[in-house]
Amino acid sequence: MIPLSVPNISGNEWKYVKECLDTNWVSSVGKYVDLFEQKITEYTGAKYAVATSNGTAALHVSLLLSDVNENHLVIVPNITFIASVNSIRYTGASPIFIDVCPKTWQMDLDLLEDYLKNKTRQVDGVCLCRETNKPIKAIMPVHVLGNMGDIEKLCELAKKYNITVIEDSTEALGSRFKKKHAGTFGKLGCFSFNGNKILTTGGGGMIVTDDKALATKAKHITTQAKSDSFEYIHDEVGYNYRLVNILAAIGVAQMEMLPSFIDKKHEVAEFYKDKLTKFGIQFPETTKEMFQNNWLITINVGEHKVKLIEHLTKLNIQVRPLWKPMNQLSMFKQCNYVNNDNISQALYESCISLPCSTNIKKTDLQDIIVAFEQYYNKRL
Ligand SMILES: Cc1ncc(COP(=O)(O)O)c(C=O)c1O
Repeated sequence: MIPLSVPNISGNEWKYVKECLDTNWVSSVGKYVDLFEQKITEYTGAKYAVATSNGTAALHVSLLLSDVNENHLVIVPNITFIASVNSIRYTGASPIFIDVCPKTWQMDLDLLEDYLKNKTRQVDGVCLCRETNKPIKAIMPVHVLGNMGDIEKLCELAKKYNITVIEDSTEALGSRFKKKHAGTFGKLGCFSFNGNKILTTGGGGMIVTDDKALATKAKHITTQAKSDSFEYIHDEVGYNYRLVNILAAIGVAQMEMLPSFIDKKHEVAEFYKDKLTKFGIQFPETTKEMFQNNWLITINVGEHKVKLIEHLTKLNIQVRPLWKPMNQLSMFKQCNYVNNDNISQALYESCISLPCSTNIKKTDLQDIIVAFEQYYNKRL
């Protein structure tokens, strides 16, 4: 089978993990946790980084640090992986879903602006939803598939309406807008290092911020909020959300290869673009200001989605549909969904993700193109 996106463990992973095992530094304290955090700050330009057990935990903690609770609303795009919205629900808050832009597949900023202008009001510096009178405490842009929308514009809107920005940049390590890294625009940004991400630790996450107090607090509540270095005294309800040293060691090794991973993703994306656009297949658009990491190469095949998935699966080529839009999931059906043309649904009905591991073989890529040619030529 040609897999969708598998890890590329080909650097110093074994060496660094062996060191953890040999020295007994296997758990949530150790030099690799600190080193991994340092590498992420150096790479992204964020001032502080706090390693977490996964990206969902990073998002959950970021929301807690922004004082989001059950009385609040949080704006999020309608196309995302469920973890973004789950993390909002963990706090008790309710999501407001905004439809996505048909070109970039990211949150539609015109819709967002229109919503904020016409459906909210300001009371004592708090943005209230006019319909429910609930405060809109945060906005969580998600850099879907490693692409980015105009995050600068989004942050300006958030500032104008007094809303905190927490970036779900879990898929976008290495992506940039005007050379500034994904994750560094909001008050807090979150990354994921699960098995299919551009860089993996098996499971892992990271919070980045420029705010020292927030970083300190993030470390505190991800380690059970222990307030005394010796006695078991805890000053609030904390979480066991810290990344362990063994996994951070893998992360450090993976960081050494990140630039080459991104180069490879670009090479694969260019290959697909070159070979597939002639069939009318569309790719999400970027602008000159955007540099995307091409994490998961996803295409719009229009009406051919179901048949193409069937055809490629038969040939042992692993593909994946786009996430079902959040407003359609049973737990979120009652939530507000802001849209004009329900672009989320159209994309869901027509997009598939293609194999794009950073260690994919050239012959595999050629076989995939042959499979597409077979499909489209048979139809013609
Ligand atoms: C958009 C998005 N948000 C959040 C997450 C959660 O990350 P994790 O799986 O590390 O918890 C992921 C990845 O799985 C994701 O793709």
